[in-house]
Amino acid sequence: MTHLIVVGSGVAGLTCALEAAAAGFEVTLLAKARLTESNTRYAQGGVAVALADVDSPASHLADTLAAGAGLGDPDTAGILCAEGPTAIHELIGRGVQFDRDGDDLAHGLEAAHSHPRILHAGGDATGAGIAYALVDRVRAAAVTILEETTVVDLVVDGERVVGVRLLDGRDLRADEVVLATGGAGQLFPHTTNPEVATADGIAMALRAGAAVADLEFYQFHPTALVATDSFLVSEAVRGEGAVLLDAAGRRFMTDVHPDAELAPRDVVARGIAACMADQPGVPVTLDATALGPDFLARRFPTIDAACRARGWDWSTTPVPVAPAAHYFMGGVRTDAWGRTSVAGLWAVGEVACNGLHGANRLASNSLLEGAVYGGRVVEALLARPAAEPRDPQWAEPVVVDLADTEEAAEFTRADLQELMWDAVGLSRDAAGLAEARRVLRSWRAPAVSDVKSAEDANLLLVARAMVDAGAARVESRGGHFRTDAPDTDPAQALHSVLVPARAMVP
Ligand code: FAD
Ligand code: SIN
Repeated sequence: MTHLIVVGSGVAGLTCALEAAAAGFEVTLLAKARLTESNTRYAQGGVAVALADVDSPASHLADTLAAGAGLGDPDTAGILCAEGPTAIHELIGRGVQFDRDGDDLAHGLEAAHSHPRILHAGGDATGAGIAYALVDRVRAAAVTILEETTVVDLVVDGERVVGVRLLDGRDLRADEVVLATGGAGQLFPHTTNPEVATADGIAMALRAGAAVADLEFYQFHPTALVATDSFLVSEAVRGEGAVLLDAAGRRFMTDVHPDAELAPRDVVARGIAACMADQPGVPVTLDATALGPDFLARRFPTIDAACRARGWDWSTTPVPVAPAAHYFMGGVRTDAWGRTSVAGLWAVGEVACNGLHGANRLASNSLLEGAVYGGRVVEALLARPAAEPRDPQWAEPVVVDLADTEEAAEFTRADLQELMWDAVGLSRDAAGLAEARRVLRSWRAPAVSDVKSAEDANLLLVARAMVDAGAARVESRGGHFRTDAPDTDPAQALHSVLVPARAMVP
């Protein structure tokens, strides 16, 4: 019997574990916190899917590719949109209760979608609805669960990944290992992501010698509350009609893009940043007052409670918002089945990059990605692929040396986060990237003794790779905006690939 280790319990890992258990695999699921703690758990707006009569997978695909700024892969994005409806019915079958409009599923609208196609649960608690339902299923399935168990490395034997190494030094062996470790928001000081999002999977894959892709593309969500935890105010709020105001109370996004507040996410985030720069020290505000207290409390109960917990009544007063690190388009390079460049290693969900999001993810496509691609690994392992889609247009791999140098010094996570915000944040330039590269190489990874030190080592490694990727792309595209190269260069419409110069697994 195939023994599959799945690292991570968000929508991607849970879907993979459930499909694998149903297929008769021996499955071990690991998560470094409780199973329900993940980016998935905090997702608000919903899941994009072409289920409405007026909609179609072709329209969803066109919007996904348009948001991706010329880099979204038509095959992997096409799979997402075409297989999305089936994946949604599977989620419903597993107990996810999407909100309804009478007998029909309710469909919300978000930026850059041609149709209202965002399914939501509990109003704005879609991720929690999915996470709790799938965790209930996985606990009832034939899956060995190891929660609060941190994986620190992959175990490599020759050219193949054969298991994972735990923080306590134990090795768990398996036939196949699936990374579903989610995002990397903790690279930055302002992020919507929870504390578990520390880029662990990308770092482990790099140490095992795997190729990574598109690391220069990071998405900043335009509207997080200006508060210590950067609590997200869903794009769905703008989808319902909320507008952004400058210090004078003027709607400024209408000057920036014809779609104003519903322009692509990177455009809105940079529009806010520019407005903030023009009014130093004064945040922009999100004005949802026209939606009324009853609607806001019913449609967005989580955000409503978060605003009130901070002493703000958003039904009467616009609330301060600013961009925050939100989603990593880049990740461990995979094919359309989740296969990485290293035998025995697979990656699904936010940790992976199969090219589908291109340079900028379309809102609400990532929960769907986990639900669709989590299951495809199992399909591939069962050797049932109906057809082999071609690989995305990967550029020639660039070999990078990411290892510590001997004279390197200690660093703090806060130092790293500030450096990344300044150099690889909403806008970048050659000088800032070169300086960040120098500073990141002057630091050394801490010895791994606990979860925090393991995470810090991972953040440092991925930060180095990200800065190298940002420096190599001398153009602006989607989430990668270079002030010194503001135009998009059609000749650079290829997915970047980095390969570590040497494997670094102990
Ligand atoms: P995650 O859900 O992040 O799960 C990662 C798992 O890996 C966790 O269980 C974690 O504990 C585990 N893990 C990590 N490292 C290790 C390790 N070293 N050892 C063991 N376990 C490890 N997307 C949408 O499509 N729609 C939305 O409305 C939406 N809203 C969002 C709102 C917020 C506030 C945030 C933060 C994100 C939102 N997103 C949304 C993005 C989406 O939630 C994520 O991209 C998606 O949930 C990622 O799922 P995943 O399964 O890949 O990873
Ligand atoms: C949101 O609700 O604005 C987040 C949606 C997403 O990140 O896809």
